[in-house]
Parts: sequence; C-alpha cells; structure tokens
Amino acid sequence: MTKRALITGITGQDGAYLAEFLFEQGYQVHGMVRRSSSENFERIQHLRDKVQLHQADLLDQLSIVRLVEEVQPHHLYNLAAQSFVPTSFEQPLLTAEFTALGVTRVLEAVRTVDRSIRVYQASSSEMFGTVREEPQTETTPFWPRSPYGVAKVYGHWITVNYRESYDLFACSGILFNHESPLRGKEFVTRKITDAVARIKLGLQQKLRLGNLDALRDWGFAGDYVRAMWMMLNHDVPDDYVIATGEKHSVREFADIAFQHVGLNWEDHVEVDPRYLRPAEVTTLCGDCAKARRVLGWAPEVSFHDLVRMMVEADLTRVKKEIE
Ligand code: NAP
Ligand code: GDD
Repeated sequence: MTKRALITGITGQDGAYLAEFLFEQGYQVHGMVRRSSSENFERIQHLRDKVQLHQADLLDQLSIVRLVEEVQPHHLYNLAAQSFVPTSFEQPLLTAEFTALGVTRVLEAVRTVDRSIRVYQASSSEMFGTVREEPQTETTPFWPRSPYGVAKVYGHWITVNYRESYDLFACSGILFNHESPLRGKEFVTRKITDAVARIKLGLQQKLRLGNLDALRDWGFAGDYVRAMWMMLNHDVPDDYVIATGEKHSVREFADIAFQHVGLNWEDHVEVDPRYLRPAEVTTLCGDCAKARRVLGWAPEVSFHDLVRMMVEADLTRVKKEIE
C-alpha cells in the first residue's frame, strides 16, 4: 500500500527538501498551501507533477479538518509557521496565531478525523533562548527570547500534551538552525551567501549585518528532514534534538563565505544596528546523542561544505540572472 504524507509548509525550505525525500521513499506526497494573490511555488517547481497541493490555512480550523479528511494521510508533518524571529517582534500576535495556536489546530484536526495519523511538529532550538546548559539536550529547560521562541514552546508542549492525553503518535523535533541554497534570503546565512555572490559579480558593494558574535549550530536542511521521517517511522513517539554539536559565529560564516570567492569579509561587511534584536539568543549548540542512539541519525554535511554549497549555488544563480 502506498503511504500518504501530508506536509504543511511545503513551499518553505524544509517542505521542499522533505517532499523530495518522501517522494524518493515511495510516499504519495500532499502539501498544504495557503491562498495568495500570486503563486509562491519556486522551491517545489521541480516536484509539481509529483506532489498534490491543497489549499488550507493554519488560521482556519475547518480548512485543516477538511484537508485531513480528504487526504487521509498516514503521516502529517507540521512545518508551517511564521518562522522569522525579527518579524515575531513586529507581529507577535500573528506569530502566536500561526506558530503556537496553529499547532493546536493541526492536532485537533488529527484528533477529530483519525487518531492513528502520526504527527511531526517542527519545534526549534530557539526555545532554549538564554541557554541553561551547554550543549542543549531534550531535557534542557527552555528560556525563549523572542515571541517566535515563546510560540514554539507552546507548540512543543501542546504536542507532548496531545501525545499524553489522547495517545497520539506525535513527535516534536527540536531542530537547530539548518540551512541550504533554498533558505530564505532574510536569514543570516543566505543573506551572506547571496551578498557574496552579488559582490563577487560586481552587483553590490556592502553587506550590512547585525550581531556578528552570535553563535549557532548550523546544519544542512537535507540532513534534517531525514531525521523528521526517522522520528515518524520509529516504534514509539518521542522528542529529539537534531543538531551537529558544533557552533560557529556569524563572523566565521562570513569569513569562510567571502574567502571561498577570494574576497576578505572585512572589506565588505558593515554592522548596522537595524539588524540587532530587542533580545538576542547569543549562543546555541545541540547534543543529538539521543537521535544518534535511538534513530541512528547523524548529520552528513559539514559546516565548511554547507557554506561552500550555499555560495556556489548563489554564484550560479546570480550569474544566470545577469546573463
Ligand atoms: P520557511 O521557509 O519560513 O517556511 C514556512 C512555511 O510555512 C511556508 O511554506 C509558509 O507558506 C508556511 N506558512 C506560514 N504561515 C502559514 C499559514 N498561515 N498557513 C499555511 N502555511 C503557512 O521555514 P523552514 O525553514 O522551512 O522551517 C520549517 C519549520 O521548521 C517552521 O515551522 C520553522 O519554524 C521550523 N524550524 C526551522 C528551523 C530552521 O533552521 N530552518 C529550525 C527549527 C525549526 P508561504 O510560502 O505561503 O509563506
Ligand atoms: N537574519 C539576520 N540578519 N540575522 C543576523 C543578521 C542579519 O543581518 N546579523 C546577525 N544576525 C544574527 C541574528 O541576530 C541571530 O543571532 C543569528 O544571526 C541567526 O539569525 P537567523 O539566521 O535569522 O536565524 P535565527 O537563529 O534567528 O532563527 C532560525 O533558526 C531557528 C532555530 O534556532 C530560524 O530558522 C527559526 O525559524 C528557527 O527556529
């Protein structure tokens, strides 16, 4: 029997990688997309004849119930969210509606339609905020530092609660930052690699960034979507930290990215206070020992290879654009 998977947030970075991965595993892949005045399917363009898209919105309970009824998925991956931290300071209520209450709407739909559907919730290392220990594990207490982080803490605990209350097979993946050539250009890694390509090709002079000292545990999105699938295919539902265990600064990321094209980052990067946050997460570093032990998951792409992959992809894309 062909297994059906439903992905909310299929038009995002992770949705695109996960759709491709699940398709390769033999799944029939369905994606939830929200209505917009213009299509936003660039990341899944190459999969358009393979995935089935359905309109629904995290803000609209009935639309999610109808979608789950229609698709009857075996596995549901809830990746949709307002995922950009600075926007969460500007739009905290909308962020809570999408990123926090949206999770309950998805879980309620599953509870109403079919409790045997396995659910993955996209939780985040941003929940650790002001870190209480290093590295962070599944038992490290949360201290979120943004409305986004607070919303994700709600999403995490409501997932655990539905598992405990209704015996749902619901897993929360606490994923540390993961990047790729499909990353949105507002996130710092892609902002840097896009600018490196444009500066190298003479289209831009300067790159304005915020806190260069911030430390993140950056992995490759392609590795991380595999972990989501492993969680839903394990015997018992549980929560897992997914991380590389290495941390690097924004400055170091920029240094490697500029070096890769023969440039010195210090000649191009300027600090702009506009990109500083009201409250910052200064450091994150995860310990994925549980995922290694129980799921057999390990990251495959190194930090240096990730930076190079992203710079190369942006160079190729920008060159094509100016041809
Ligand atoms: P992303 O690129 O920002 O994608 C977010 C997705 O959510 C998009 O498909 C977006 O659709 C959809 N969405 C937003 N609001 C919606 C709504 N009201 N109804 C339906 N869909 C809606 O995010 P990502 O990097 O792929 O991350 C996937 C998930 O993992 C998110 O929940 C994120 O918070 C979480 N996460 C990400 C990371 C990371 O480092 N990438 C780490 C930990 C956790 P549109 O295309 O229509 O905007
Ligand atoms: N976006 C951005 N832009 N960040 C900058 C900049 C800049 O110009 N300059 C410095 N930074 C710093 C931020 O202050 C932050 O400390 C770090 O770079 C990473 O910022 P982002 O790439 O925006 O990611 P994030 O860590 O805030 O959030 C991402 O990772 C979370 C997991 O920990 C997002 O993908 C979240 O959705 C995800 O949950």
